[in-house]
Amino acid sequence: MMKSYLLQTLKELALLGAVKNRIEISSLELANQLDTSQQTASRYLLDLDQKGLITRELGIKKQLIQITHAGTEFLEEEYLEYQQIFELTEKLFFKGKVVSGLGEGRYYTEQKGYVDQFKEKLGFAPYPGTLNVEIKYVERNKLRLLKNYNAININEFKTNDRTFGSVGCFRAEINGVEGAIVMPLRSHYSNILEFISPCFLREKLDLKEGDDIKIVIYLSG
Ligand code: CDP
Repeated sequence: MMKSYLLQTLKELALLGAVKNRIEISSLELANQLDTSQQTASRYLLDLDQKGLITRELGIKKQLIQITHAGTEFLEEEYLEYQQIFELTEKLFFKGKVVSGLGEGRYYTEQKGYVDQFKEKLGFAPYPGTLNVEIKYVERNKLRLLKNYNAININEFKTNDRTFGSVGCFRAEINGVEGAIVMPLRSHYSNILEFISPCFLREKLDLKEGDDIKIVIYLSG
C-alpha cells in the first residue's frame, strides 16, 4: 500500500532534521532526495500534511516543514521493528484487544502453590484471574521469539486431588502497568496472552471488552 512512500518521505525529512526543527526545503529539492519528480514529491508532502504527519508553512519557492508528534510515532514504529529484526532490543511489543476467557484464570491464580512462587519469583501476589489479550493472528509468530529467551519458571506442584502444571512467565507491562504474562510451558502458542498483575486491571485502566491495549514483554528476567 501507500505506506512505503510516506515512510520514505518522512525518513528523508527526518534525516534533514525535521523531527526537532522546522526545515526549509523546496519540493524540487525533496524530489532529488527521493529520486522522483517534483510533482510526485509535492503530492507526497500534501499527503503527509493531510494525514497530520507534518506541518507546513508555505512560502513562494520554499516551505518550512516539521514532522508532527504523529509523524514521529510513525517513524518510531518502524524503528522498533528494525530493532526487533536485529535483536537489539530486550522487549517485544504487541497491540491487542481485551477479551474474556472461560473464567478459569481466577481458579488457577488463587492456588497457593502458584501464589507462593509468583511472590518469590515475580515479587507480587496476583489479583485473582488473568486478563486475556487477543493479539493479531500474525503476531503469534513473534511469540516464537520468546522460545529463545529464558522464561521465569513456575514449577508444577501437587495438591491432594491433582497436579498443577508448570508455567513460564515474562515480566510485562500493559498500558504502562506492570505485571507478567503467563504461558503454560507445554502448550503451543495461541494468539491469546494471559496477563497477571497485582492490580485489578479492568478497573485501574478502565478497560472494557474489545478495548485496544499495548503490551510490552521484557525478555530478560
Ligand atoms: O478467564 P476470564 O477472563 O473470564 O476470567 P478470570 O481470569 O477469572 O479473571 C476475572 C476477571 O478479572 C476477568 O474479567 C479479567 O479480565 C479480569 N482481570 C483483571 O482485570 N485484572 C487482573 N489482574 C486479572 C483479571
